Amino acid sequence: MTTPESTPNPLPNPLHFPPRFAWGVATASYQIEGAATEDGRGPSIWDTFSHTPGKVKAGDTGDVACDHYHRLDADLDLIQALGVNAYRFSVAWPRIQPTGTGAVNQAGLDFYSRLVDGLLTRGVTPWLTLYHWDLPQALQDQGGWTVRDTALAFGDYAAIVADELGDRVQHFITINEPWCAAFLGYGIGIHAPGHRDLAQSYAAAHHLLVGHGLAVQAVRANAPAAQVGITLNLYEGYPATDTPADRAATRRQDGFQNRWYLDPVYGLGYPQDIVDLLGDASPQVQGLVLPGDVELMGMATDFLGVNMYSRSVIEDAPGEGFLHSRAVRPPESEYTGFDWEVAPQSLTDLMLRLQRDYDPPAIYITENGATYPDTVEADGSVQDAARTRYFQQHIAALQPALDGGAKVAGYFAWSLMDNFEWAEGYEKRFGIVHVDFGTQARTVKQSGRWYQDFLARTKAGV
Ligand code: NOJ
Repeated sequence: MTTPESTPNPLPNPLHFPPRFAWGVATASYQIEGAATEDGRGPSIWDTFSHTPGKVKAGDTGDVACDHYHRLDADLDLIQALGVNAYRFSVAWPRIQPTGTGAVNQAGLDFYSRLVDGLLTRGVTPWLTLYHWDLPQALQDQGGWTVRDTALAFGDYAAIVADELGDRVQHFITINEPWCAAFLGYGIGIHAPGHRDLAQSYAAAHHLLVGHGLAVQAVRANAPAAQVGITLNLYEGYPATDTPADRAATRRQDGFQNRWYLDPVYGLGYPQDIVDLLGDASPQVQGLVLPGDVELMGMATDFLGVNMYSRSVIEDAPGEGFLHSRAVRPPESEYTGFDWEVAPQSLTDLMLRLQRDYDPPAIYITENGATYPDTVEADGSVQDAARTRYFQQHIAALQPALDGGAKVAGYFAWSLMDNFEWAEGYEKRFGIVHVDFGTQARTVKQSGRWYQDFLARTKAGV
């Protein structure tokens, strides 16, 4: 398929990406699968949360979502037709162990086995995320991520999945965005399980990172040839003004958002400046950091996954929150439908900074994308010029990062298709493929056709 003439700002070509660069699209189980009670799947915290009135916009739930569970083959064909060489999906823990521990539900494993085989048959490399937020409700009933037992259970679950699929899956991501799972879920309560308690959010973050370490060990043991890493959502920070106060505030925000996860994953333990600010809420004061945890959280990994959507611009704000800082909104900037600033230069800066500060063996952009209020034309097409431009700008921003020595090895567009956008329900669309949630019809958007064309040209080296 060729790029329509209306496609704005085609990328300067050719960009010089390394050989074997992973070009993919990404999704997550609860956001697309539906079939919430089928084939032995147990309830997850997102079932409970989305079924609680007032938690998700318009009362939307993931009960049906994109009905991907029933449309697997057609969706795999769609992925193949886009011309990507990689597909990132997540496994729903409650399909594998309906209550989070104990006996394996074979029907759940079989679904992912079919998914993996279907990808391989189509020449697409599977990238498997073990945890993308659908914690078995039974584990939440025992305290969820605030208790260490959940991390131990996660290690067991990771071992099961690696054992079953590790003969065919060579890329495992342990946890997706622990900051969101911990802070949005347990700190400010806008995600499942909906708790609002700073100390709980740091207990959760700690156990997510311990769970990550245990999952790395499980993958190494059961799928020794596979690569394993974690995916963090990182925002490069910039001071609102070039003053010592704003620079220090930006550093604190960076500690909260980025270093709190990066430092332990790279064996450095928690950043002391944030430990000090947290006081009683820190995992140390809560007595949760056990001997050996620094080593466990810092288990060597093969790559760093980065989800990047925007940047943060920060000013000093004495007395505001425990960080005494606040995000500001540069008025002259462009914003997506989530009011997230479009900031492709920050992707370059972030890549270079990660390579400099942590020297990961490889970096994969495991998510990057934008939501806009798409309008569907009379013929069903979606001319999403702003999203297309967003992808172009961010892919182009990788070139100077590569030239500067960042070991970027892949890029996954978020998302393959419109889906259940958590607390925002179905209103916020991120897909490069449009989904009509009434009919489940899929239509490749302009951005999807652009990506397809870009990949074809990149493969052909033109
Ligand atoms: C990150 C999350 O991993 C994904 O689930 C979500 O849909 C996107 N960000 C967009 O908000």
